[in-house]
Amino acid sequence: MSDFWSWFIVALVVLNIAFCVWLLWYTSKRRNNQLPSGETTGHVWDGDVTEYNKPLPRWWINLFYLTVIFAIGYMVVYPSLGNKEGILSWSSTEQHEAERAEADAAFAEAYERYLTMPVAEIARSPEALAAGRNLYVHNCAQCHGSDARGARGYPNLTDDVWLWTNDEPTLLATIMHGRQAVMPALGTVIGDDAAITSVAVYVQSLSGLRTDPGLAAAGKAGYEMVCAACHGIDGKGNPLLGAPNLTDADWLYGPDLATIREGIVNGLDAQMPPFEPVLGEKRIRLVAAYVHALAAGEATAQVDAETDAGAVRVASANP
Ligand code: HEC
Ligand code: HEC
Repeated sequence: MSDFWSWFIVALVVLNIAFCVWLLWYTSKRRNNQLPSGETTGHVWDGDVTEYNKPLPRWWINLFYLTVIFAIGYMVVYPSLGNKEGILSWSSTEQHEAERAEADAAFAEAYERYLTMPVAEIARSPEALAAGRNLYVHNCAQCHGSDARGARGYPNLTDDVWLWTNDEPTLLATIMHGRQAVMPALGTVIGDDAAITSVAVYVQSLSGLRTDPGLAAAGKAGYEMVCAACHGIDGKGNPLLGAPNLTDADWLYGPDLATIREGIVNGLDAQMPPFEPVLGEKRIRLVAAYVHALAAGEATAQVDAETDAGAVRVASANP
């Protein structure tokens, strides 16, 4: 807060308190002197119900004075007057940091052993999976979905289709450092509208969709010249670039002609944010184990619902 706003707030607070004190003093004085108790306000309801105008009882007024004294005491002790620190030098930031350091220390101790354990092995510990799932829900679900099945542009993490492969080092690298998959806009490279359509149709044919064979054949050359560099001549993709396999039935964006054409014309760009700064390596290993368990759908990933109040039911669909 700049000095100006700090002093502005100090002035507001002081004026407010002074005003309250004056108001208390003024009303109690005026009522006592000028309106003898027993006088009515002159309001009459239902013909005969009148309203007395009595001053507040002294003890009540004194309670108000006490609140003023409390407020002043509070401002001396705690930071509440603009930038003033208060004599305790307490701050919510420091308290938060202290509590966080404490929680981190407890976490570090409890999860130390996972730092050296292979992810696949971590995935066998129900306790670690529960922690991993928790991390997933708070950090990943907003993009990959609470069921981890992804959405348009956000990969499904429960299947065995991988843009970047899921061996341990790659999976950890994806989560730690993030990924940026970029497909440039290639419309002008392919040529006119008809050429773009035929390349898109060829892409559809790669995954076995029913297409016009003539159109698909017309798009093959364009595909091989421009697209094969990343997606491969056979269309099976390249995990080093995050270029998806175009021959399977799994689509990040969609198999319809309009979607494929749009990707070719405008390019595609998906960003997975880096989580190392947010979670640190230990937590990332836990969440990676959870992802591993989800994707593997192995019996080993199965967690007894009883032990975790039903929080983790990994691979329950794969008995
Ligand atoms: C802001 C959205 C967003 C968040 C949050 C997010 N991701 Fe992602 N993630 C993406 C996108 C987009 C991709 C696809 C990147 C690409 O196309 O290469 C991706 C890719 C991945 C991949 C690679 C998938 C593959 O097929 O190779 C993994 C694994 C992954 N995310 C795990 C996670 C985990 C674990 C978290 C939580 C710690 C997380 N993501 C949080 C958007 C997100
Ligand atoms: C520089 C490498 C590169 C080239 C060249 C390239 N692509 Fe891609 N392509 C990618 C990447 C990376 C993605 C993933 C984008 C993302 O995750 O958002 C992608 C995604 C796609 C998708 C979406 C797949 C899905 O699952 O929904 C289609 C379709 C596609 N490309 C078709 C093409 C076609 C057709 C061409 C040629 C005109 C082409 N690509 C050229 C890298 C490339």
